[in-house]
Amino acid sequence: MKYKQAKRIAEKISIVGLGCWAFSGDGYWDHSDDDKCVNVVHEALDLGVNLFDVAPVYGKGHAETVLGRSLKGRDRSSFLIASKCGLLWDETGREYNCLKKDSILGEIDGSLRRLGVDYIDIYQLHWPDQSTPIAETLEAIAKIRDAGKIRHLGVTNFNTETVARMDEIVPVDSQQGLYNMLERNPRSYHTLDLVYRTERETLPQIIELGQAFFPYTPFLQGLLTGRFKAGGNFSGRDVRRFNPKLNGARYKIYFDAAEKLRAISDNYGHPMYETAFNWLARNPAVTSVIGSSLTPGNIGRTAKALEWEISPEMMKEIDAVIAPFEDL
Ligand SMILES: NC(=O)c1ccc[n+]([C@@H]2O[C@H](COP(=O)([O-])OP(=O)(O)OC[C@H]3O[C@@H](n4cnc5c(N)ncnc54)[C@H](OP(=O)(O)O)[C@@H]3O)[C@@H](O)[C@H]2O)c1
Repeated sequence: MKYKQAKRIAEKISIVGLGCWAFSGDGYWDHSDDDKCVNVVHEALDLGVNLFDVAPVYGKGHAETVLGRSLKGRDRSSFLIASKCGLLWDETGREYNCLKKDSILGEIDGSLRRLGVDYIDIYQLHWPDQSTPIAETLEAIAKIRDAGKIRHLGVTNFNTETVARMDEIVPVDSQQGLYNMLERNPRSYHTLDLVYRTERETLPQIIELGQAFFPYTPFLQGLLTGRFKAGGNFSGRDVRRFNPKLNGARYKIYFDAAEKLRAISDNYGHPMYETAFNWLARNPAVTSVIGSSLTPGNIGRTAKALEWEISPEMMKEIDAVIAPFEDL
């Protein structure tokens, strides 16, 4: 394994991280099976992966529970848990944003219980909540940090102006944003508008502030692994049915580009998921690539990417394919 050091976090973080959204269970991601997830975590730990990204909303508590079960009995100082708050759900399952003080004070205890730990290393505000003043949110964060329940504050899906303001009150030590070869400054994620442009705005801020950055959806939910076909890649129960870039007319545009990237990878003798990973890992702003995986062996296969780097010639060919996607 290789590790990167972000200025504000003492531990070196493995460049291969593990995103645990797919641990949500059946009805969220196809083939999600708890025992398989536990094995994937153990395989990741054996490879030296030390960052696990999760959220209460993933499977409505289920993913945190499965991650907690996987990490039980392991040396607590050997891994970092990055969980989140602020995306809640009602009795019908409808999700909504809430970063109110009392809500966060309750949410943290639920996450700690499900994960079976005394503290969360990186606690991330999942999405902005326009109806709550950020000062109120930060009051709750300072309180749980001072109580030792969290070590670092992070954000995901926030714009740079808000992050800069927050950072003066409570240090924001990490950010997470949608970023991969075909989503560099994306304006939307599924049906949600994004209020930040990842490559143009977030990444320069990461460097300037010395924060850690975790690009999410690094394989565009599977498209950038080279395993997707022209259609039929997931069932009607899988969350990816809500991603307009992977469905309907728009999918052809993304699939055609992915096929070109796959041909380039093939030519240079590398699997496409390694190219997609290396394209992110080479960026000095990127700390850990939090891809998700349910298939035993895939984390190890991805980690093989650490054995090579994209050459300038290969990068030129990649650039020609991804240039039209710079602002899509
Ligand atoms: N902050 C946010 O708002 C936000 C939003 C979305 C996601 N996230 C985080 O980002 C994480 C990752 O993003 P994601 O779950 O959207 O999808 P992703 O990581 O872009 O793609 C996952 C897909 O890639 C496949 N894959 C991974 N490694 C592979 C390999 N070596 N060979 C072949 N296929 C491989 C997986 O297949 P298998 O399952 O078969 O291995 C799975 O189908 C999430 O789990 C979550 O932690 C955060």
